[in-house]
Amino acid sequence: MVVSISSYKDISIVCVLRYTSATQLVWSERMRLKDKVAIISGGAKGMGAAEAKLFAREGARVVIADLLEDEGYRLEAEIVEEGGECVFKPLDVTSEVDWNDLVEFTFAKYGKLDILVNNAGVFFLGGIEDTSEEEWDRVNDVNSKGVFLGVKAAIPAMRVSGGGSIINISSSAALVGDPRMPAYSASKGAVRLLSKSVAIEYASEGIRCNSVHPGGTNTDMTYELFDNEQDLADNNALKVMRRRASPEEIANGVLFLASDESSYVTGSELVIDGGDTAR
Ligand SMILES: NC(=O)c1ccc[n+]([C@@H]2O[C@H](COP(=O)([O-])OP(=O)(O)OC[C@H]3O[C@@H](n4cnc5c(N)ncnc54)[C@H](O)[C@@H]3O)[C@@H](O)[C@H]2O)c1
Repeated sequence: MVVSISSYKDISIVCVLRYTSATQLVWSERMRLKDKVAIISGGAKGMGAAEAKLFAREGARVVIADLLEDEGYRLEAEIVEEGGECVFKPLDVTSEVDWNDLVEFTFAKYGKLDILVNNAGVFFLGGIEDTSEEEWDRVNDVNSKGVFLGVKAAIPAMRVSGGGSIINISSSAALVGDPRMPAYSASKGAVRLLSKSVAIEYASEGIRCNSVHPGGTNTDMTYELFDNEQDLADNNALKVMRRRASPEEIANGVLFLASDESSYVTGSELVIDGGDTAR
């Protein structure tokens, strides 16, 4: 168990309280991503923003990239104000040109790339016969092709950086079928197996790749789904833990995969769904 008691403003005296065994406590003076350079797609809000704040607090230099420029620049200012290192760059994950520009920018600014979080995503609720070809393409372009393009752009930069960690945000919807959202489930299922393929291909170069599978999480994406608070509360009552995750609870898992603490973890899937797919 690790408890960070740091804040951006007192980086020089950051302490981590670490249990080395069930009974022994030791203090170590280190941040979990110290000097690492990270790109987070879809980082302007929701889970991506929670990851950006946590990564910066743990010593990373963070490039947040998103379609949402106002939110992105606002988050950059907030993190910098608190003493973190962060910069926003506009990105459409479906554009290979944008990805190449982003990685080039990151490399020029920081001289390396250690971490890529492919977090950007869109949702679509609708059964097979309610899903148009255009909706199918939109969801799969952002959620699946966008991850492929991000991985493809990052690999050469990670290779010359001496290795790296790629974390692809999939979903619990990639693990079980759901007739309400076949386009979304298919797009996230693709991310799961793309991640394993990348893990195998690049393990010998020190590049790890894992997928994260959040369950329902309290972000705008969830709020799009429910007409009112009562519907959301009713749905929460059906969950194993009777609630949704906070974005920070997902970010904690992403941090583990980004850090060297997970140095022997690749090709794996980290399910953070409060037990919902355990049923
Ligand atoms: N919220 C949930 O319950 C939940 C559950 C499982 C998985 N997820 C996944 O987690 C990830 C984060 O979602 P969230 O819940 O924070 O949602 P969110 O809607 O708050 O954030 C998604 C972000 O992705 C960005 N984005 C969308 N299309 C983009 C594009 N083409 N290029 C660049 N950026 C783009 C958005 O602008 C936004 O900032 C997504 O991949 C989502 O599918 C969410």
